[in-house]
Order: sequence, then C-alpha cells, then structure tokens
Amino acid sequence: MIKYIFREVSRGLSLGLRRFSDVKVTENVADSPAFPHLTEQASLYVHWPYCLRRCTYCNFNKYIPKEVNEDIMAKCLQRETETLLQLSQISCITSVFFGGGTPSLAHPSTIAKILETVSKQVYLSDEAEVTLEVNPTPVGMSKLKDFHFVGVNRFSIGVQSLQDEHLKSLGRDHSYLEALQTLEEARRLCPGGVSVDIMFGRPEQTIESWSNELSEILRVCDDHVSLYQLTLERGTQLFKQVHCGQVTMPTEEMTAEMYRCARKTLQQHGFQQYEVSNFAKNNSESRHNLSYWKGKQYIGVGPGAHGRFVPIGEGGTAREARTQTLEPDVWICEVQQRGHGTRRRIQLGHLELLEEVLVMGMRMTKGINHKHWELFNPELGLHEIFGASPVVQELLQSGQLILDDRGLRCSWDGLALLDSILPVLLLELDKQSFPKAAS
Ligand SMILES: C[S@@+](CC[C@H](N)C(=O)[O-])C[C@H]1O[C@@H](n2cnc3c(N)ncnc32)[C@H](O)[C@@H]1O
Ligand code: SF4
Repeated sequence: MIKYIFREVSRGLSLGLRRFSDVKVTENVADSPAFPHLTEQASLYVHWPYCLRRCTYCNFNKYIPKEVNEDIMAKCLQRETETLLQLSQISCITSVFFGGGTPSLAHPSTIAKILETVSKQVYLSDEAEVTLEVNPTPVGMSKLKDFHFVGVNRFSIGVQSLQDEHLKSLGRDHSYLEALQTLEEARRLCPGGVSVDIMFGRPEQTIESWSNELSEILRVCDDHVSLYQLTLERGTQLFKQVHCGQVTMPTEEMTAEMYRCARKTLQQHGFQQYEVSNFAKNNSESRHNLSYWKGKQYIGVGPGAHGRFVPIGEGGTAREARTQTLEPDVWICEVQQRGHGTRRRIQLGHLELLEEVLVMGMRMTKGINHKHWELFNPELGLHEIFGASPVVQELLQSGQLILDDRGLRCSWDGLALLDSILPVLLLELDKQSFPKAAS
C-alpha cells in the first residue's frame, strides 16, 4: 500500500475515528460548493494480496497460497472497482497504484482488465501515473515489458538491501544482482519512472555499510528513491528473533544517524527530499502518494485496501474511511455477493478530517500551505490555530517548525523529529476546535 502512511495516521491521530453509526457530522466537505474538486476526483489503490513467501519483517496484508485463481481474482477486483467508482460518483481517476503483497506476480492481463474497467467508467488520462510494485525476481523482470504495454508507466522496485546476506536473512526471494537487472530493465522501459525501496535500520547493519550502500544506490538508481526505516512489527518472525536474542537491531541513535546520513548524501547528489521517506529528482515525485499527503480522496480496492471518499452515490455527504475485508477468500465471496468487500466504514467528522490533513501534510517538506489548509478549514487559518500557542512557539523558536506566509512546515531538523512534533500540533488543533472540552 502506501507503505507506512496508514499505520502512521492511525498511530498519530489522538482522537481516533468515530463509528459510522453514532456520528453527528457538524460540517462536511461534499456540501460545500467551494470543494467540488475534492469530491470529483480520486486516486485508486489496488491491492494484490499474494506473495511467494513471507519476509521476516513484514506484517502487511499478504497470503502465501498454494494456488491463485487469477480469473476470479481479476473479476472481483474489476467488480469492486466498478462498485466503488459508482458509489463515489467521481468523474476522474488521477492515478492508479498496484500494491501488495506482490502485484508483479499478477498476470499483465489482470492489470489491463482493471485499467480498462476504470477507463470505461470514468476519465483516466493517458498521462495519469500508473505504478506497479515489483519484487525484483527473474519472474517479475520477465513481465515488465507486458506490464508497461498494458499501461503501467511507473515501477516501484523492492530492492530493500544491497547486501545478499541481509536479503537472505530477511527472507527476500531475490539477490542483489537480480535487483540490478530488474532495475536496468525497468529504466529501459520507463526512463525517469522507476523508484527503488530500500530499508535501513536492518539487523546487523552498520553506519559504514549503510554509507557504502548509499553510494551504490546513487550509482544504479533512477530518479526516485524511497527509504524506509525498518519497523519491528509484532507477530513477525523478525520480532521473535529479536526478542529471543537471535538477532540484534541497530540502536535508535544509529538509525537516526543512518537517516541523517541518507538525507545529506541524497541531497548532495541532486535528490530533493519531498517527504519523510521520499526523494526525487527531475520532477519524478510520486503523484499518487502526493495525493494522499495532500488529503485528496482515494478509493482502495482489493483485500484489506483502505479508502477515503464521500459515497455520494448513496446520498453520503461526508468523507468516509473505508477498509475492505482482509482475507482474500472471504473478500471474494463478499464481492461476488454484493459487489464489494467493504468491512468497515467510519464517517470522518470535521475535526478528524483536519487531523488527517495535518498528519499527512506535515510529512511533506513543503508542509501545508495556507490555501491547502483553507480548502478544508476556511473558518480558522493556520496562524489562528497554531500561532498563539506557547508550546508551538517553543517549536518555532527552537527552529524545528516554521509558520510563515507560506504555511506550516517542519525545518530540515524538525522533519526528523516529526513523531514528537505531531502530538503537540494535534493537541493544539483539538483545543482550538473544542476550546472548552480541551481546557
Ligand atoms: C509491503 S511491500 C510490498 C511490495 C513488495 N512486495 C516488496 O516487498 O518489495 C512495500 C514496501 O514496504 C516496506 N516495508 C514492508 N515492511 C516493512 C517494515 N517492517 N519496516 C519498514 N518498511 C517495510 C518495504 O520497503 C517494501 O518495499
Ligand atoms: S514480498 Fe513484500 S509484501 Fe510479500 S512478504 Fe515480503 S515485504 Fe511483505
């Protein structure tokens, strides 16, 4: 999916989301004539839930089946896409992202069918960004040409590590040489449209080895790099290995130093950091992921996919957070029976929507500009909410945060401390929205 975004949103939001049934929406986006573009467009995320094997660190929604009935899966993904597009009443899909799991295991004809379904129902420009996550195995590589032929114009390649012994111990199903070959083929097909995912803070990784890896990444990468700090997730094999002392993770100080080193090195080589984990040059930022960080609508189809949109088709007037059923076989039955596998719908109140806009927007180096904020909250500007707060003033004076005529954003140093800045900002937003309850 969009990697850590959803988890961080759910971790970051102090108030939680209200249940669909007991919400009284005070204000909503769809009602206002000032926001038509917020409800007329969306991006589309499609989740392919299958993998060949389980990486030791991964707790994404993925399954290792004996076999996959791809025909049924493709039909259900198409049907759910149709249903949710209809429900949202949008007229344009701005970008599509096939994530997983391992979507490069899908047949290119499945990807083609889903894109055709979208194009039949709404406007999907030929220029729209269409990304596919690729596991750099020989099988994945052999299909890149066909994926490109059916409309994929951006590849996100899960390189993860440049050290074979690390790839092996993390349970990856590829070698570094295979990653290099996949990268080369992807760059040949989509020059300027290839991203690599690398993790740092891996077991047994040192600052020196990371620095060498960074030099090698810069030598082989295209115009986009995503660097994720390895999160130790409960329930994973890695979690158990660390807890029984079999594997050692780098210290917090070491991972902070790795992050600092990566930001500096990438910047020196012409990569602009545009988000906590994302770096690009030659205007190759991921338009799809930017749409999440800018608080735009998105539709999520496939097992466990998330979405945020106003269900105008059934009379909805407020944005909903939607989650599809996790387990693929159950999801398939639900889609066959009722056209979609939506398991959870939570209506976002005005404050919850603003919290999401804040948490997502502050991940970008540009932060949130005044116009952007005004779209969601015309009544109370950023200066009014945050300007008078003594705790926010402290962050401004210490140079971690910037609030000026452009808007609100983290400084270079502040971005590395975003996890500790966000609770302060969320509390302030909360106080300003419900002054009596919070005081
Ligand atoms: C869930 S994977 C799906 C794409 C593909 N299957 C792969 O593994 O490359 C998407 C990205 O999430 C990141 N990721 C997965 N688990 C992670 C973890 N525990 N900590 C940090 N990043 C993680 C990896 O960098 C990976 O490229
Ligand atoms: S291939 Fe990707 S999605 Fe599958 S288990 Fe590994 S990290 Fe998770």
